[in-house]
Amino acid sequence: MAGLQGKVALITGSASGMGKKTAQRLAERGVKVVINDIVPEKVEQTVQEFRSQGFEVMGKVADICNASAVAEMVKGAVERFGSVDILVNNAGMEKAGALRNLSEKDWDVTVSVNLKGAFLCSQAVHGYMVEKGGGRIINIASRAWLGGAGQAPYASAKAGLVGLTRTLALELGRKGVTVNCIAPGLIHTPMWDELPEKNRSAFLAKQPTGKIGEDDDIANAILFFVDDDASFITGQVFYVCGGRSLFAG
Ligand SMILES: NC(=O)c1ccc[n+]([C@@H]2O[C@H](COP(=O)([O-])OP(=O)(O)OC[C@H]3O[C@@H](n4cnc5c(N)ncnc54)[C@H](O)[C@@H]3O)[C@@H](O)[C@H]2O)c1
Repeated sequence: MAGLQGKVALITGSASGMGKKTAQRLAERGVKVVINDIVPEKVEQTVQEFRSQGFEVMGKVADICNASAVAEMVKGAVERFGSVDILVNNAGMEKAGALRNLSEKDWDVTVSVNLKGAFLCSQAVHGYMVEKGGGRIINIASRAWLGGAGQAPYASAKAGLVGLTRTLALELGRKGVTVNCIAPGLIHTPMWDELPEKNRSAFLAKQPTGKIGEDDDIANAILFFVDDDASFITGQVFYVCGGRSLFAG
């Protein structure tokens, strides 16, 4: 992996799941990582865990939907580490349900975290990237952006994230900043382990590869996009879903 040593990455929602795994993989390659999450205890625990492995990390508790909290987080990261070279807009959540059962609040919170948060973080970091002559923005969308019954706010927000990716790629291309999107399918989470066997079988039946993904599958895709060798790739949606994007439903 060319040229990652000493770079600085800000990963939103990185005190858990695939964001945390990505933080680990980048830190192993000498990247200084800003661990962001909205849950203070999780940030503290993750930072401690990483420091005990000798990684250079800092924790920033911030709600990515709050513009001033985001600005303060990015300013703190630049003061401490000198720049932000890599932004992974990973934080996300979902309020799911049939159209008739969803509230305005369900819509607002889901769209805010998954879409507005990525907009605010990209806006806050891009000036530093441009000043330095380049950078990488990776947005974590979902295969669900193609459409998912019971997922109106989430699928809409993730579709918006694809639009944001393509737009920022156009705006920032000549400044050396690439902007790409990863669309994960079903990834192994604690929630998966708690599902009844029959639900798991139903999900697996729709997987062309017959299996779900792991956090490392997403981290590996992110490592590909942040590499210097990926500088000619921008504005793309990259599915990491075991082929599940090949058909609807
Ligand atoms: N797990 C899957 O199967 C799957 C599939 C497709 C897409 N995704 C997407 O991948 C990303 C990561 O998913 P995960 O499964 O690792 O999730 P996760 O729940 O393990 O981690 C997400 C983190 O984001 C944090 N967060 C939520 N709201 C926040 C906010 N306002 N500000 C800062 N942090 C906030 C949470 O506290 C949590 O720690 C999400 O964007 C999700 O939509 C996940």
